[in-house]
Amino acid sequence: MQRILVVDDTELNCELLRNILKDGYIIDTAKDGEQALSKIREYPPGGLAAILLDLQMPKMNGFAVIAEMKRKGWMAKIPVLIISSEHSVEVENQCFELGASDFIHKPFEGSIVKNRVRNAIELFSGKNQLEQEVREQAKTLKKQYQIIQMQAEKLKEAEPFHMLMMEYQAAIMEVETRLKVLNAEFTQRYNRNPFESIKSRLKTPESIYDKLARKGYPATVECIREKLMDVAGLRVICSFPDDIYRLADFLIRQDDIILLKKKDYIKNPKTNGYRSLHLILDVPIFLSDQKKYMKAEVQFRTIAMDFWASLEHKLGYKREGDNTEEIVRQLKDCADSIEALDYQMQEIRNKIDKA
Ligand code: GTP
Ligand code: MG
Repeated sequence: MQRILVVDDTELNCELLRNILKDGYIIDTAKDGEQALSKIREYPPGGLAAILLDLQMPKMNGFAVIAEMKRKGWMAKIPVLIISSEHSVEVENQCFELGASDFIHKPFEGSIVKNRVRNAIELFSGKNQLEQEVREQAKTLKKQYQIIQMQAEKLKEAEPFHMLMMEYQAAIMEVETRLKVLNAEFTQRYNRNPFESIKSRLKTPESIYDKLARKGYPATVECIREKLMDVAGLRVICSFPDDIYRLADFLIRQDDIILLKKKDYIKNPKTNGYRSLHLILDVPIFLSDQKKYMKAEVQFRTIAMDFWASLEHKLGYKREGDNTEEIVRQLKDCADSIEALDYQMQEIRNKIDKA
């Protein structure tokens, strides 16, 4: 049952109101304003469903009680119904202006009091519930707004990254086209193609950030541009070793391509047997408003060397096991055999050409 505080200095009035309301509510009483305030203070929030308040009382009158309740912020939490013999319109209006929920005139009629108390409580709790819902929705909206703002920030960061990736892709297309032109020319002039196929790949964002972290650089667009050489990667698969050098030479000699670095793992194979020619190039790309140089890594290898490298690459993913040493040794043997085979094939081709 909900609790109502009846505040009146006349004992009889308190008793009358108790009798009217006792079936629906627990009734507490106070005989003046001071006692009323100290009782309100004792209840937990929501502990009082309503206050019925007399105006004329000793020690502290009803107006002072309302004023104090207002100061404490309680008027927004508990409906206050004035019960008074005051019949002046000004006083009644004053009470409403101060935040009273209703004004009941003395002498009162029991059933009317009951109905108006019930109405006041229901209206008040309905209003409070709505306000609570609005507050919660406002909170949710604020949170969603913050999420949207964060996503917008992230998108802003992503924009230059996507632009950079587009430029690297353009560099890949540029190198690929130049190599294809050379292939077309050779096919036409000498009836042979200097390469079998081209594979290209753009380094993935994960792999880019991994590499930057490994090298101790911050993950910024500038660092990617300056410190990483292999975001744009091309692999050119040739039939014969001499095709590799000829093709690499044709590419480097193009007047707008700059050779930044050359690693010749064919002349100087890695200890594991890896053989390939690596070029780091600065390649011009042409955008709508500017010409820009982009770094690209081009690996040249024979079909057999490529076959070997893709198998050897799998070893990198293999966990250290019992027969790792044996596999490494076998791979090294294969690499050496492949070299011998590549040059043998090349000699045969030369003989055929002469014949
Ligand atoms: P990464 O950090 O691996 O790019 O090496 P790097 O930048 O010091 O240059 P390097 O020219 O040695 O290697 C560049 C790329 O060549 C590698 O990312 C591999 O794709 C390939 N590569 C180099 N060494 C080996 C090797 O021993 N085995 C295989 N399968 N591939 C290799
Ligand atoms: Mg590299």
